[in-house]
Amino acid sequence: MNIVVANTSHFKYAQIICDTIAVSAKVRGTGIAKRTPEYIRGKLENGNAVIALDGDTFAGFCYIEIWGHAKYVANSGLIVHPDFRGKGLAKSIKQKIFELSKEKFPDAKIFGITTGLPVMKINYELGYKPVTFSELTDDPEFWKGCQTCKNFDVLTRTEQKMCLCTGMLYDPATKPKKEKKVNGKAFNRLKSIKEQLFLKKNKK
Ligand SMILES: CC(C)(COP(=O)(O)OP(=O)(O)OC[C@H]1O[C@@H](n2cnc3c(N)ncnc32)[C@H](O)[C@@H]1OP(=O)(O)O)[C@@H](O)C(=O)NCCC(=O)NCCS
Repeated sequence: MNIVVANTSHFKYAQIICDTIAVSAKVRGTGIAKRTPEYIRGKLENGNAVIALDGDTFAGFCYIEIWGHAKYVANSGLIVHPDFRGKGLAKSIKQKIFELSKEKFPDAKIFGITTGLPVMKINYELGYKPVTFSELTDDPEFWKGCQTCKNFDVLTRTEQKMCLCTGMLYDPATKPKKEKKVNGKAFNRLKSIKEQLFLKKNKK
């Protein structure tokens, strides 16, 4: 498996990246910000993405988004192709994009929002902490990305204070505590409480 900083030679993978993200979101039944191949190609062109390839076969991807005049960056669009899941690939991709983010934007806070336990676990081990949305970027362009998510009405109803996603933040100014593990049970319980609270109208 080759995990590299992506460039223009990877343009041919833009479509499969978008398709894999879209199909996975549908299968999970969760919300997701929509990405177009043009948008992905921009990330490849700027060296702001990491791609995993097994020979020539697409295996995984993640990219950097820059917000609030580079005061914040996000590692977004993490996807591992179903054929390559459960082998630690997401962890390796996230590690690589995390290192790239720190190298390119050493002073930026790195954040992400997620509904997924695997991502929560990986972020936590990298030194991210769960935070309220008010600690994330207030760049309206970031929050606009949520408009294509099926849970966008929740974010609107709560005046952008909370949603089904959990916000996580790595602050380079704070020394991360090592060896911490996420409590998966507590995370799933919290997720189920949020779903009951925010989605009850849709179930009726
Ligand atoms: C989420 C995803 C990226 C995980 O990829 P992966 O390569 O299978 O993940 P890894 O093998 O690196 O596993 C990372 C951790 O998550 C755990 N994990 C993986 N899949 C899991 C699942 N479905 N449920 C619970 N935990 C899971 C692993 O056990 C591991 O934890 P550990 O270190 O405690 O053992 C992949 O399933 C995917 O692309 N899903 C669809 C897109 C998506 O959800 N993206 C995230 C959007 S925020």
